[in-house]
This record gives sequence, structure tokens and C-alpha cells, in this order.
Amino acid sequence: MVDWAQGLAKGYDASRPLNILRPTTENIKAASRIIQRGGVVVMPTETVYGLACNALDENAVQHVFAIKGRPADNPLIVHISSESDLERVASVIPPICHELAKRFWPGPLTLVLPKRAEVPYRTTAGLDTVAVRVPGHAVARALIQESGCLLAAPSANLFTQLSPTCAEDVDPRIVEQVGMVLDGGPCSVGLESTVLDLSGDEPQILRPGGVSRAEIQAVIGQPLGIVPPPSVRKSPGLYRRHYAPRAVVRLVERLRHGQPGLTFAHSEDPCQIHMPSEPRAYAANLYSALKKLDDMGCDEIGVELPPDGALWEAVLDRLRKAAAV
Ligand code: TXA
Ligand code: MG
Repeated sequence: MVDWAQGLAKGYDASRPLNILRPTTENIKAASRIIQRGGVVVMPTETVYGLACNALDENAVQHVFAIKGRPADNPLIVHISSESDLERVASVIPPICHELAKRFWPGPLTLVLPKRAEVPYRTTAGLDTVAVRVPGHAVARALIQESGCLLAAPSANLFTQLSPTCAEDVDPRIVEQVGMVLDGGPCSVGLESTVLDLSGDEPQILRPGGVSRAEIQAVIGQPLGIVPPPSVRKSPGLYRRHYAPRAVVRLVERLRHGQPGLTFAHSEDPCQIHMPSEPRAYAANLYSALKKLDDMGCDEIGVELPPDGALWEAVLDRLRKAAAV
């Protein structure tokens, strides 16, 4: 499996787990061998880190569910290295799919399409559709290519917890159960991909994310419907409380003096983290900021509500889910 001495030879911090490695060509090769043998690897993507395995290997997929503690009714996203691999997973590819792929791939847009028989129901949680995307991080694409596998990869967090946006933020309970963590640096997007369902009559956003509603509408030339309430959602992964730190999250207008949390103001208080007022920059910093406050031992985190504008849709979705009880 992993050459454990490698970490030491490269002069790594001894306090770091030895299976967190830089994505050198050698390490990507070693990671791809782990995948080919049915193992699990944490890989960087531009959105969040993912817990990757061969999407067509039922046992490996089951292992990923077990590591995350994820209910079996929550399907995984299949990661491919280029649009040409779509045919390996999807049985019907509508013309709009190619247009969206051309505009947004590689990138944070996941498309839901009717699945091919080769994609196991364990991967799609019993659905006849499959979610697929080409990740924007070169290391993720290199791992897909080197392994020759399609990679099923949920976010590399424990069920309902915060997704990691850097290798250091991957929960040690996950690190110890995987063959390797490829450290690709901080994720540039910082929030999960937008999940767009193309399997029904009309395209529909199932989860807002790294690509905005307006950007998608500009390509499909029509307004997209609003996500229906949880009881009727097609995407079983959309639980009410999700993306949550250990601390209780409260959405507030303004942080009180001394209240730990995320603020748009500048504060001297180390427990009040200044957040950017531009939505993409805010998104890129959100999970790591919440994690930092969690690690400081805060029991309650106040989060100043961003404006309700369209560009904040994905951030507001995550904040509401983190604050749900
Ligand atoms: O940015 C991302 O999407 C990250 C990185 C690692 O690629 N992955 C990620 O995966 O967020 P996960 O498993 O944490 O979230 C996948 C979402 C869930 O909400 C799930 O319900 C939905 O995609 N999904 C997956 N397959 C689906 C399908 N066939 N139909 C509807 N929704 C699906
Ligand atoms: Mg997730």
C-alpha cells in the first residue's frame, strides 16, 4: 500500500499522520494503486476534499459509506476526468448536458442523468440516475486518469459534519481509515458543487453550490425552479441539519460584544473571525472558519447573516443547514 517512509523522507512534520502526502507523481501513482485494489483515498477537489474509491466496485463504495457513517439512501457523485467519459456512466445525455459541460467542466457543477447498468445501485443509493462531474482540481483528474477508474467521492467529512477544505481539516477518524490523503492545498471554491438534475422534464437545482443559479440559467436560457421542501425532494442527501460544526450555530444580525462567531466587521477579538463581503471569497473561507471556532472550543457560534442576494444562495443554504436543529 503506502510507502510509510515516504512522509519522513520528504521531511514532513512528525506530528502529521504519515499517510497525508504531497501529490507528487509517485504519490498519485501509489494512490491510484490503492483505488485499483478497492481501497479508499482522500483527494483534493476545488470544492471540498472527497473520499474517493472506484465507483463501479460495490465493496469499495460500501466501505466509503461505512467510513463516513452515511446512510445508504444518500447517493454518491461519480467523478470523471473529462466529458468524454460521460458515456461510461450515463445512458441518456441530452444536448443541454453537453452545453453545460462545455461551459462549466472542469468545475463545481454536478449533473444528474439516467444511469448506465454498469453503475451499481449501491453508488446511486438505489436510484436509476447518477450524479456526475469533472472536478476542477488537477490532482483529482490525475488520480482518475492514473487509476483508470471512475471515482465515487462524497465529501470527506463524517455524516452531517463540516466538509474539509484543506488536508489538515480532514477528521483524524477518517484519516486513519483511508490508504492515503493527497494534500492538494486549500480548496479554491470551498463549498460543494451545485447539483443540477437533468433527468426530469425540466432542469432543477437539487443543491445550490459553486456554480450560481444565474450562471446556469444563462446557458439553459430559462429560469430554474426553486428546490422543493425536503419531504418531496428527489435528492435524499438533502438532510435538514448538515454541514454543521460541533458547536451550535445561531444566525444573527450582528455579533454581540465577546460573542464568538463570524462577522463582517473588523474585530480584535480572536473568537470573532472577519469574513469577506464578496460571496465567493466568503464561501472559500466558511468551513475553515467554522472549524477554527470549533477547535477553539466554542460551544456556540454566531454567524452574521449575509445579504439575501442571488449570489449568496449557496452560502445561505449551508448556513441555514448548519444552524438547523
Ligand atoms: O463538491 C462536491 O460535490 C463534493 C466533491 C468531493 O466533489 N462532493 C460532495 O458529495 O459534496 P456528497 O456525497 O457530500 O454530496 C452529494 C450530493 C448529495 O446531496 C446527494 O444526495 C446528491 O449529491 N446526489 C448524488 N447522486 C444523486 C442522484 N442520483 N440524484 C440526486 N441527487 C444525487
Ligand atoms: Mg457531503
